[in-house]
Amino acid sequence: MVMSPSQTRTAPTTAIAVDYRQPTVEDGARLWEIASDSKVLDVNSSYSYVLWCHDFPTTSIVAEVDGRPVGFVTGYRRQTDPSTLMVWQVAVDDDVRGHGIAGTMLHRLFDRNQRSGVVAMHTTISPDNVASQRLFESVAQRRGLRFERRDLFGAGQFPDSHEPEDLYILEPDLIEP
Ligand SMILES: CC(C)(COP(=O)(O)OP(=O)(O)OC[C@H]1O[C@@H](n2cnc3c(N)ncnc32)[C@H](O)[C@@H]1OP(=O)(O)O)[C@@H](O)C(=O)NCCC(=O)NCCS
Repeated sequence: MVMSPSQTRTAPTTAIAVDYRQPTVEDGARLWEIASDSKVLDVNSSYSYVLWCHDFPTTSIVAEVDGRPVGFVTGYRRQTDPSTLMVWQVAVDDDVRGHGIAGTMLHRLFDRNQRSGVVAMHTTISPDNVASQRLFESVAQRRGLRFERRDLFGAGQFPDSHEPEDLYILEPDLIEP
């Protein structure tokens, strides 16, 4: 899902008004741009973001400031276990990071999908992406969920120089692996 982002963080000095909503097809181009600007995420084809907004809006979310998307989460419910929401990508524009936007998007997405049977959130993170690991750990802690890492995709499973992708699990203790 990612390469390494900056691990440093400066506390924001001003509050900003953020709206959260499901994406529409019209957001696809902007999502691609945010992913590309992150310089960290794997940038998939523009088509994949437009298609994602078309086919997976209920498991995805956009954060907007002054009517312009500044962050997104894309996800899907796993076919072999629809009670699991698999988060594919999370990104927030550099100039609005540190305002809790990524955390809020994940909580809102989890809340929305819990109402239709989702109990667990999974994602994959490369070993050096501490920011992303902390983001998901914080979400797990605030929701009282177990937070666990497991091996998933090793570097040898990718045809290029992609880093390994570890599976991170956020789920209630009662769920057996
Ligand atoms: C990672 C990213 C999405 C965080 O967005 P954000 O809106 O700034 O995150 P939030 O303000 O909601 O922070 C949520 C939690 O993550 C932690 N966190 C976020 N970025 C961090 C960083 N660089 N270093 C350490 N902790 C970080 C925060 O401390 C916060 O924890 P808390 O709730 O205990 O206070 C953003 O930096 C980004 O888009 N990075 C590039 C893309 C990427 O790496 N995406 C993640 C993997 S797909």
